[in-house]
Amino acid sequence: MPSKSLLLISFVTLAVSVNAASITPKRATCPDGATTTKNAACCSFFALAEDLQKKIFLNECGEDAHEALRFSFHEAITFSKVLAAQGKFPGGGADGSFLIFLDVEANFLPANAGLSDSVDFLLPVLGRHPDITAGYFVQFAGAVAVGNCPRAPRLQFMAGRLKVTAPGPQGLIPLPEDSVDNTERTTSTPLSPPLLSIATFSHLIPNSSLRHFSRELASPGTANSTSEAASPLPLTSGDESGELRLQSDFALARDPRTACTWQNFVNQKQAMTNAFANAMLKLSVVGVGASKHIDCSEAMPVPAAPNGKGASYPATKSFKDVQQACKAPFPSLPTNLGATETVIPHCPAGATDCDS
Ligand code: HEM
Repeated sequence: MPSKSLLLISFVTLAVSVNAASITPKRATCPDGATTTKNAACCSFFALAEDLQKKIFLNECGEDAHEALRFSFHEAITFSKVLAAQGKFPGGGADGSFLIFLDVEANFLPANAGLSDSVDFLLPVLGRHPDITAGYFVQFAGAVAVGNCPRAPRLQFMAGRLKVTAPGPQGLIPLPEDSVDNTERTTSTPLSPPLLSIATFSHLIPNSSLRHFSRELASPGTANSTSEAASPLPLTSGDESGELRLQSDFALARDPRTACTWQNFVNQKQAMTNAFANAMLKLSVVGVGASKHIDCSEAMPVPAAPNGKGASYPATKSFKDVQQACKAPFPSLPTNLGATETVIPHCPAGATDCDS
């Protein structure tokens, strides 16, 4: 016969589970009549995700998705702990100030050169969603863009931004020609060099001409400018992008503060994906904090499942090409078959025309 205490435990367990079932929060139905959500405040984001996907990104990890992601970084990074400590305006971080003070921040050159395309396609979408502020909008668009990219994580999205009061201060966006010391000084955000270097894994997104993380560790070939490090892989060839290796990524992959961060993720897809998602969440709330936000992550697209393939060296390359800056043993990787390295294509797999 069961003891009294066992009976009591079973009763309590039963009572707790009945209670849990009865207090499951009711999901709110959005104005479209079909979408349900934990929090009615997230309804606007489902509508925005649909608009971005249908009109801009076309559910692809193409040029516009890359640009929206890069834009979300430049928007968020304009916040300085150093200025705050000096009692000066530190910038609003991920507050949307770029879109509100366009005449000011678009002229933060050379850092923001080339971002006008993103502004051109993002502003009309923002105009169609008057209940969404610029700060939410920019980070949400960047996170939706990531979700379109194969092997990318489904990012979290926290709704809740402060009102924009002023443009961010100039000089807080890192440049590709910067040393790691400079990058650390320039950004001086709550993102430490390792966290920032994890966020730069964004440069690995497929069909961005900036690729391949483990290739960052390979020894150089030829360089074209001070912002570009020599790449061991084919550069632009005909219509295909080829590889562009940023000097700043090259430096982060070798600096004592960050070299092991890079190397430890070689062939560790899940750990890398989780770390990237965490860094991106921190970046998306720079200067605005995350505590009072509503979690609207369920409005994010679900990325395609990873292909299960492990890391490998490009054809013709092997461990002898690795410039190892981290003392930990380097993982053993196979080499892709072939007499030459594949040129990085311009368009996502299967697409022949991907220019907007
Ligand atoms: C040290 C920090 C960083 C520097 C110096 C830097 C610099 C650059 C530069 C110069 C380009 C343009 C390359 C070209 O001409 O095609 C670029 C592209 C890009 N960056 Fe960064 N970046 C940094 C960090 C980040 C971070 C943290 C993110 C995302 C969170 C990011 C996202 C992107 C994306 C998605 C592109 C590709 C854009 C496209 O294909 O149109 N970057 N970055």
